[in-house]
Amino acid sequence: MKEATRKMVTDVAVFACSQIAFYYAFKYIMASVDPNRQKRLDAKKQSEEKLGKLGKESVKLNLNEYEEQIATELILPSQIEVDFASIGGLESIISSLQESVIAPLCFPDLFQSSGSLLGAPKGVLLYGPPGTGKTMLAKALAKESGATFINMHVSTLTNKWFGESNKLVAALFSLARKLQPSIVFIDEIDSFMRERQGGDHEVTGMMKAEFMTLWDGLTSSSDRIMILGATNRPNDIDAAILRRMPKRYAVSLPNVEQREKILRIMLRDARLDKNFRLGEIVRKSQGMSGSDLKEACRNAAMVPVREFLRSREGRESMSRARSGAAAAAAVNGSASSDVVGAKANGAANGSTSPASTQSIGGAAKLNTRPLRTDDFFRSDTAETAIPSGQAYNAQAHYARIEADPVD
Ligand SMILES: Nc1ncnc2c1ncn2[C@@H]1O[C@H](COP(=O)(O)OP(=O)(O)O)[C@@H](O)[C@H]1O
Ligand SMILES: [Mg+2]
Repeated sequence: MKEATRKMVTDVAVFACSQIAFYYAFKYIMASVDPNRQKRLDAKKQSEEKLGKLGKESVKLNLNEYEEQIATELILPSQIEVDFASIGGLESIISSLQESVIAPLCFPDLFQSSGSLLGAPKGVLLYGPPGTGKTMLAKALAKESGATFINMHVSTLTNKWFGESNKLVAALFSLARKLQPSIVFIDEIDSFMRERQGGDHEVTGMMKAEFMTLWDGLTSSSDRIMILGATNRPNDIDAAILRRMPKRYAVSLPNVEQREKILRIMLRDARLDKNFRLGEIVRKSQGMSGSDLKEACRNAAMVPVREFLRSREGRESMSRARSGAAAAAAVNGSASSDVVGAKANGAANGSTSPASTQSIGGAAKLNTRPLRTDDFFRSDTAETAIPSGQAYNAQAHYARIEADPVD
């Protein structure tokens, strides 16, 4: 009898132990088989780091794994170099955005006396031809608005296994709510929210539906969340989405005054010849977008650099730079990172050329002449100098979007 009891107890214990061991072994195997495990851990680390820099404690926010994924899309103002001052010719859009979007979003108390009429819009759309500064404007908003800025890449929402997209969309909204006031920026929103078609994948359709439902669920009294979209194909956007973005700003090709402002900003660090005629460039650059102008400035700034490099002095300083770099490489073993691209003297801001390298010791420095007006109209370069030419038919594009009824 006693013997039998003992045997039974041992059996039970062995069985229990084996079950427990099996449970942990199974869990371990499942975890190591899960291909997304590492990604999840990375996302967790990254989101904690970003939230910490934003001054939020991730522990208190109690994020789930989907929200952590979304939190990796947070933009820190310190990461961004663009501010409102570096955007040319969009002053009216910037001030309107500040007054009727950012202020009600960030300081709702100020607007409370007037009731719900003055609340922040739930959706804002920037539309216009490519290269006119829409993305740049959003970046500046991220830097200067003071709201949490989530730069939502559509791929983050869709690049997932079946069923997860919906959870990620839900997480996007719940995270934005936890961190409000928030701006959710979706660049090239046409690719995400294009006109729904029969051929659409079912998952995408469901995700869009979820997105719109949650968007509609935002109430102006308690939620301070705004969806900001940018597109150069407004006509491709689903009408239901357009309706949810009642505030629309047309960012069109710059006119004469705007081009002058943009060029002044781009050339502010350049050394200019005393006969430099900005007006002529402004006049001749009709039809060019902000990014075309940037490219033109870059090409023009290369002309004096190229001239210098072809001169005797230039060739000498090139060979000095080369031997300097070689010497540095010899010292450091692998010193390719020690050779930095130096800003070309007199070049438009941000433009560096591979030729204008300077060793850390500062041996070689480009000694170029100031920039002249005719540098902008050279066509002796291998690159194409002036306009992309593709006059964008903005009017036709905009006519439809203006006519679209907002109910
Ligand atoms: N209004 C502007 N002022 C200054 N730079 C501009 C302006 N518009 C465009 N640019 C230049 O063109 C580049 C591309 O602009 P971007 O914002 O990406 O255009 P898009 O409207 O296609 O999003 C910018 O990084 C900037 O250098
Ligand atoms: Mg863009």
